[in-house]
Amino acid sequence: MHTLLKLLEDGAFHSGEDLGLALGVSRSAVWKKLQQVQADLGIEVYKVRGRGYRLASPLSLLDDEALRREHMGLGWACRIHETIDSTNAEAMRVANSDAELPCLVLAEQQTAGRGRRGRHWVSPFAENLYYSLALRMDGGTRRLDGLSLLVGLAVVDTLRELGIDTAGLKWPNDILVGGKKLAGVLLEITGDPANVCHVIIGIGINVNMRESSNVDQPWTSLALELGLVQDRNKVACALSRNLSAYLAGHQEKGFAAYRRDWEEKHLWQGLVVALTAGATITQGVVLGVGDDGALRLKVGGREEHFSGGEVSLRLQGN
Ligand code: BTN
Repeated sequence: MHTLLKLLEDGAFHSGEDLGLALGVSRSAVWKKLQQVQADLGIEVYKVRGRGYRLASPLSLLDDEALRREHMGLGWACRIHETIDSTNAEAMRVANSDAELPCLVLAEQQTAGRGRRGRHWVSPFAENLYYSLALRMDGGTRRLDGLSLLVGLAVVDTLRELGIDTAGLKWPNDILVGGKKLAGVLLEITGDPANVCHVIIGIGINVNMRESSNVDQPWTSLALELGLVQDRNKVACALSRNLSAYLAGHQEKGFAAYRRDWEEKHLWQGLVVALTAGATITQGVVLGVGDDGALRLKVGGREEHFSGGEVSLRLQGN
């Protein structure tokens, strides 16, 4: 299926004869495969007599070879899947095996993509970036302070490099553009929290998604913001370069060195918010974040700190 899609990726017309020749199958077999593509992957294919087949819109497929090569330069192994339950789940399996780490897991689609607070992450075929990096962390989870916030910073820098100047953060690590979510980060940990553990850095970026009735919050994508289909390989490589630099900086200097930069890119800085943690709702003004990445709120004249996990933040009055 992948080879056929690769031939059609450009969105131009290709005759059934040419496709059959390239795949070494008959024209009717091509037609059958295309019907399968439509049914299994939800990708629309047009058939026009005398011209052949074309996709309803161009695709950007993951380029296995180029991605492996690029990540080798960073010292990361790279595994690319056509379909996976969740790249975070797969990265967790990789981390718990004897595989070489760091290891980046990418997929064309996820059937059980997971978001924060038990939410589902919508992951249509070849539209967005489903990215999970498995890392070994010596020294336990205390070495992770502020890491998820730094990952958000790497995503924002990447989006700005790609031309989305207004991309910013919402604590702890949502990435928003014009009040809509463009990307999200989910860190998961496996192993001994006091000693050697593995961290899975999961990142979902809406790249070429233009419509979806399944996303349960206001959202946008790179293609919607920039008006053009984006190369997902380019997005993945730019993200990896930024993330790799932040990971090295975090190991050397900790989150404290990036705190000010993070606060500058925090879109809700100085605003009145309501923070929900379980059944408790706290109202306050966002002062910023601490050296450990906790949210600092001014609550009734006093400064209080809140840590990530299962908390959520809303603008007051929304
Ligand atoms: C959020 O809720 O904002 C976090 C979303 C994280 C989604 C990404 S997509 C790649 C990786 N695999 C998953 O199952 N989740 C993360």
